[in-house]
Amino acid sequence: MIKIAPSILNCDFTNLKESIWLVEKAGVDMLHLDIMDGHFVPNISFGPQIVKSIKKITKLPLDVHLMIENAQEFISIFARAGARIITVSAEAINLREGIEAIKKEGLEVGVALKPQTPVESLLNYLNQIDMALLMTVEPGFGGQKFISSVLPKIAHLRDYISKNRLDVDIQVDGGIDLNTARLTVDNGANILVSGEYIFGSPDPRKAIADLRRVCNLSQKKSASK
Ligand code: DX5
Ligand code: ZN
Repeated sequence: MIKIAPSILNCDFTNLKESIWLVEKAGVDMLHLDIMDGHFVPNISFGPQIVKSIKKITKLPLDVHLMIENAQEFISIFARAGARIITVSAEAINLREGIEAIKKEGLEVGVALKPQTPVESLLNYLNQIDMALLMTVEPGFGGQKFISSVLPKIAHLRDYISKNRLDVDIQVDGGIDLNTARLTVDNGANILVSGEYIFGSPDPRKAIADLRRVCNLSQKKSASK
């Protein structure tokens, strides 16, 4: 079953509560929260205070994607703010220490790779993590164009995970719409982050239903191959 994780990055923050309730009612699986510091990425988003407020108004698991330097120092802060999953960026942290710190908080561990970072850098850690996030845009902004050269990376990682009988989700993030969602699922992704496609739609409920329909069809097709 494919999971859907709406990203609130480009939401109208004066209507954040309504936006979150809307996707929660539409039956999404988690809420994706992009934390940016203006150093690791050329943009600044929001911090633990906002995560804490969001935690109070939703039952959705909070999937916190850290695009920050010194992530190590912030893991327990985001844990206390209510994260269920914390994803660190492989290029910005000592992975062994980062993974250990997230586990110590009793949370699920995600590791993100930028589009150009080879999956090989992650293989030795796969037995210690819950989710690999393959960025399908350069991290920093919502609403960017999907980078299709990441597709073989997804396929390669899924193949490795299956062959080694590992239990690791593959999340994709950036430029996910109906078309690119299908492509990523065909290649082995099973958690889709989507911002602009969902919240930029005149009918986010329908956008989510369409996404689920297309992905599940595509998954059925690959299962029957
Ligand atoms: C980009 C963020 C994404 C972004 C996705 O750095 O990690 O989560 O919000 O937004 P869309 O779906 O609009 O590309
Ligand atoms: Zn993200």
